[in-house]
Amino acid sequence: MTANPARPAEPAASGRRPLIAGNWKMWGTRAEARQYCSRLLGFLPDASRRPADVGVCGPFTALDVLVEELRDAEVLVAAQNMHAEETGAFTGEVSAPMLAELGVQGVVLGHSERREYDNESDRALQEKVAAALAAGLQPILCVGESEEEHEAGDTQRKLRHQVQEGLAKVPDEQLPVVAIAYEPIWAIGTGLTATPEQAQTAIAFIRALVGDRSKERAERVRILYGGSVKPDNAPEILAQPDVDGALVGGASLDPAGLARIATAVPER
Ligand code: PGA
Repeated sequence: MTANPARPAEPAASGRRPLIAGNWKMWGTRAEARQYCSRLLGFLPDASRRPADVGVCGPFTALDVLVEELRDAEVLVAAQNMHAEETGAFTGEVSAPMLAELGVQGVVLGHSERREYDNESDRALQEKVAAALAAGLQPILCVGESEEEHEAGDTQRKLRHQVQEGLAKVPDEQLPVVAIAYEPIWAIGTGLTATPEQAQTAIAFIRALVGDRSKERAERVRILYGGSVKPDNAPEILAQPDVDGALVGGASLDPAGLARIATAVPER
């Protein structure tokens, strides 16, 4: 398997560079994607002056447009799903090497909407995370508890299962290439946000879980928060010591909003 030359550099051992990624979900024709990019670039400072990496997770049909428009500006382009196999009789599916060939750098895996509507299991995700890495893509593995689990005090049990299963086929040395997004399901698209303390506690717990594999590498894994992040609540959440950025749904459809969130990241 050839390495994807477009893959972003692994975060330096000395510190984790935050990542602010917009998840468009099922939004964005090619024409809309082109317009979005030119507006986003108008709002973003130059890459060297950004306090965080910025990414856009678009639909398959617009990914090549995103790569073309955003590559020179050093904005990461990610898909929202892929199949674990490289090729085969899987009608309607897209594989990791197909994405890498387009110049796509990352892929969201295990978003709660896919877990719910497409029955994505932790076991299947385990294969997808490994396949993404093998193709040189940065996986953004989503985990998070439902409202019932949250209320029953089951958050840690759920996170332990999802993180351990999701990372089971990742060799230790590749752990820092994986980004994890903690997205409590009760906060996605609901306008309810975890408090900064809840986000910090859950994300520190996830880091400790990765630390059970390798303490040193866990310090280099980026762990994002997702769930109703908006320009006005982002600064407090992003100021938490373990929160390494955000996966932003609804608010990212406004490029000015995504740029505001990306520039709200405190310098580390
Ligand atoms: P939201 O979505 O920001 O609209 O809550 C987040 C996500 O689903 O990644």
